Amino acid sequence: ANEKVKQLIDLHEQSVKLYHHILTNTKMGQPALDYLHNRGVTDEIIDTYQLGYAPGQRLLKPFFDQRKIDYQLLRKSGLFSEDQEGNLRDRFIDRVMYPIRTSSGQTIAFSGRLLTTNSDLPKYLNSPETEIFNKRKILFNLDLARSNIRSDQPAILFEGFMDVITAFQAGIKSGIASMGTSLTEQQIYDIKRITHHVIICYDGDTPGQKAIKRAIDAFGESSKLDIKIVTVPDGMDPDEFIRKKGGPAFQELIKHALAPIEFELNYLKKQYNLDSEVDQSHYITEAIKLISGLDSSISRDLYLNRLADEFSVDKQVLIQQLAPLTKRVP
Ligand code: UTP
Ligand code: MN
Ligand code: MN
Ligand code: MN
Ligand code: MN
Repeated sequence: ANEKVKQLIDLHEQSVKLYHHILTNTKMGQPALDYLHNRGVTDEIIDTYQLGYAPGQRLLKPFFDQRKIDYQLLRKSGLFSEDQEGNLRDRFIDRVMYPIRTSSGQTIAFSGRLLTTNSDLPKYLNSPETEIFNKRKILFNLDLARSNIRSDQPAILFEGFMDVITAFQAGIKSGIASMGTSLTEQQIYDIKRITHHVIICYDGDTPGQKAIKRAIDAFGESSKLDIKIVTVPDGMDPDEFIRKKGGPAFQELIKHALAPIEFELNYLKKQYNLDSEVDQSHYITEAIKLISGLDSSISRDLYLNRLADEFSVDKQVLIQQLAPLTKRVP
């Protein structure tokens, strides 16, 4: 079984080289190279991440056939799709290829992006689950980010791997991302083993902001954990923001990252029309629920004060509402 894992990884390593060669050294790869350059991706980054291109025609199948690679091995690699007769075809056609590596740097899967978005096909196509790839267990870029997380910077959790790559290019090298799924227990466990200081920086659009709330909940309560939230302005994602405003502006956003309670209160506030007193009252009730979840009585008092000031209500009234919510089972 171990031998098989090695062989599957080896197929991926060979595919990385082939896709990368097509991207960087062939005429076939030129449109994909133009696409990356137009996005502002440098040749250095293309090399660091070994980005590649899967051309609009079969590539891996003839390559591996020539080398007499075992059919069953190819079948199980996830690099091919299979028709009803069992014929294998390259899964990735006409896509920019992003190798997905384990925390020890071995490539176990790919994600391929279309060069345009006017298509019925999914923008990103990932390798299917295989014996070596489980997307719920992978954190993109952990192999490169790990040493940077350990020394000075917090781990920055992004939504997409283009965000990770663009941040890396701008010198912010502690970024990681899950593979298009919400954060799993396993990923949180892996992060917590490396650091307790995490910055969540998902896309500034509505789905991104909703996902932040889920991520906060998934990390759970722990006094050791220091989680901060960055909201990227104007619905941009971090990649767009960094390209438009630059790395230093992004560092500035990180410096002003919010505590989860502050993010959640802001987020909650946006759900209400605070010109209406009915809505104000609903907001205050829900805000008190959030505040009641804070571990520290000092923090609870602090945010109650703010709430009282903000809406000119009697703090005693807020305390009365909070009290039954904070009674803990001994
Ligand atoms: P986004 O739609 O935010 O993609 O999805 P992005 O990272 O900004 O990509 P660009 O800038 O358009 O190239 C976030 C993540 O969700 C997953 C990918 O992992 C992506 O990085 N995703 C998205 C998919 O798996 N499939 C898709 O079709 C779209
Ligand atoms: Mn190269
Ligand atoms: Mn998004
Ligand atoms: Mn995005
Ligand atoms: Mn993007």
